[in-house]
Amino acid sequence: MKEMLQNLREASIRAILDCEDAELLESLRVKYLGKKGELTSILRQMGKLSPEERPAMGQLANKLREDIEEAIEDRNKVISALRMERRLIAESVDVTLPGKKQTLGHKHPMYNVLDQIKDIFIGMGFEIVDGPEVELADYNFTKLNIDEGHPSREWTDTFYFTEDSSILLRTQTSPMQIHAMETKELPIRMIAPGRVYRKDEVDATHSPMFHQIEGMVIDKGITMADLKATLNLVVEKIYGKGTVTRFRPHHFPFTEPSCELDIQCHKCGGVGCPTCKGEGWIEVLGAGMVHPKVLAGCGIDPDVYSGWAFGMGLERLALGEYKINNLRLIFENDRRFLEQF
Ligand code: PHE
Repeated sequence: MKEMLQNLREASIRAILDCEDAELLESLRVKYLGKKGELTSILRQMGKLSPEERPAMGQLANKLREDIEEAIEDRNKVISALRMERRLIAESVDVTLPGKKQTLGHKHPMYNVLDQIKDIFIGMGFEIVDGPEVELADYNFTKLNIDEGHPSREWTDTFYFTEDSSILLRTQTSPMQIHAMETKELPIRMIAPGRVYRKDEVDATHSPMFHQIEGMVIDKGITMADLKATLNLVVEKIYGKGTVTRFRPHHFPFTEPSCELDIQCHKCGGVGCPTCKGEGWIEVLGAGMVHPKVLAGCGIDPDVYSGWAFGMGLERLALGEYKINNLRLIFENDRRFLEQF
């Protein structure tokens, strides 16, 4: 029997020391120490021993049980330490690897120009308003005194959403004049920058989407002199002091009288060059005195109030400012181009 216990000791301790898995270790415990385990089956044979031999064998067996238990416990610690070590290796992060560089973008050059314009107008007490790009034909055309037969209402010129031509992508920011007059307290001083849409093919000077800045003042006693003085000031702030301007008669259905504002070409001083296409002048914006019919349509008494408005293209301003010769560069978002600014 002593020999059997000795064999069990050797076999079990070796098996325990070889074990690398916690579940397997538990099954070893059952195998050696369980109710139907090997130690129990040896102890069952104690009956065969003489009464003198029993205590010594009992002691040996108990000692073996204790030793196996201790070996399992020790091994358990080793296994969990091993498992932890493996996990740490598997999940380790190499902190010496160089990181991925985060590149930070910057404002689009055209929005730098817009910010400059906003600053100029904020400095003169104007507020900046925002409005819908999906617009009612009523606001884009009708309330602006643009009648049913006007060519800009054609399906070939304007993006419509509905068969009855009532909902569209705004073709100009001028509907913001109507929104302002309908919702704001008088007097009004506002600019409304935003996207506008027209059915134009893309080329160096055209895009089906571009930006305009609308501006409007409504108050008592506003005259064409206010329009000219204010816009001259704005031009000087954008293009520099002493820039020569020219107000040329024009026609818009929603202003009367109407004009276009040109600046003398800053490149050639008015002689004519590629920048001004030989004209000597560069067109900057359309403007005029808000038509009495438009005022009245918005519930403003044209005998008491008057106002002026302008609309200018933002892209063209940015092209001029940064000496860019192709409109496409503004929209293509080619980083090789954008990163120069
Ligand atoms: N909306 C006009 C255009 O797109 C410009 C304009 C605005 C003219 C305001 C007069 C007054 O051409």
